[in-house]
Amino acid sequence: MILVGHDPASAVYVRNKVRACEAAGIHSFTHRLHEKVENEELLNLITRLNADPSVHGILVQLPLPAHIDMARILETIAPSKDVDGFHLYNVGALVTGNTVFSPCTPYGVVKLLEHEGIPVEGQNVVVVGASNIVGKPMALMLMARDATVAICHAKARDLAQFTIGADILVVAAGVPGLITAPMVKKGAVVIDVGINRLEDGKIVGDVDFAGVSRRASHITPVPGGVGPMTVTMLLVNTIESAERFYAAQRTAS
Ligand code: GUN
Repeated sequence: MILVGHDPASAVYVRNKVRACEAAGIHSFTHRLHEKVENEELLNLITRLNADPSVHGILVQLPLPAHIDMARILETIAPSKDVDGFHLYNVGALVTGNTVFSPCTPYGVVKLLEHEGIPVEGQNVVVVGASNIVGKPMALMLMARDATVAICHAKARDLAQFTIGADILVVAAGVPGLITAPMVKKGAVVIDVGINRLEDGKIVGDVDFAGVSRRASHITPVPGGVGPMTVTMLLVNTIESAERFYAAQRTAS
């Protein structure tokens, strides 16, 4: 794991990932770099980790400081170690249905749906938020499972017009209280990916949980819903990566 600077939320996420690795028996190292680190130093570190056969997963915690060329950083990670699935090669692979690593948060959402026995095929899914980390890969993964998917920007002119038709509503907009009960179809499945810290320090999602839980058939809480799944899927991807590495070694020998 590579953590640049002192973003408090990123520090919490990385700590959670470190603890999860320890609990699962995965050896993790955290490289903490100064927020003024130069692009070259970061690139050199990634190049070293790419070449290290004892490393099976490389994660650069986002966001990065503005002076860092994020695209170049992500494209320097070896696609075979890109357990976040953010390398352009892996994004393209996801688009074309040849997935190398599924991005962890949408992967966690798919696993939640599978675990609860919620069918996706033929369902109307609305994803609110179109980020590269969640909204876009989420839509692709559900399309690959034969759902009909609409992506809405959080600023959509009449968001409710779209959300009300959703059998499955995935919200990843970063706007506390964006989704209220009248915007949700009765019996819908509501997945809240938002993590927002209010001024009083309270962590809330993008969905008015109290109101929407009276209309939804299923709803995920924040905290404690999608967040722990994201961390879990990171571990799953890392183990998958290690297994591929050793399988390839066996084939070669
Ligand atoms: N920042 C917010 N979510 C993520 C994630 O899934 N991976 C990384 N690397 N950074 C993030």
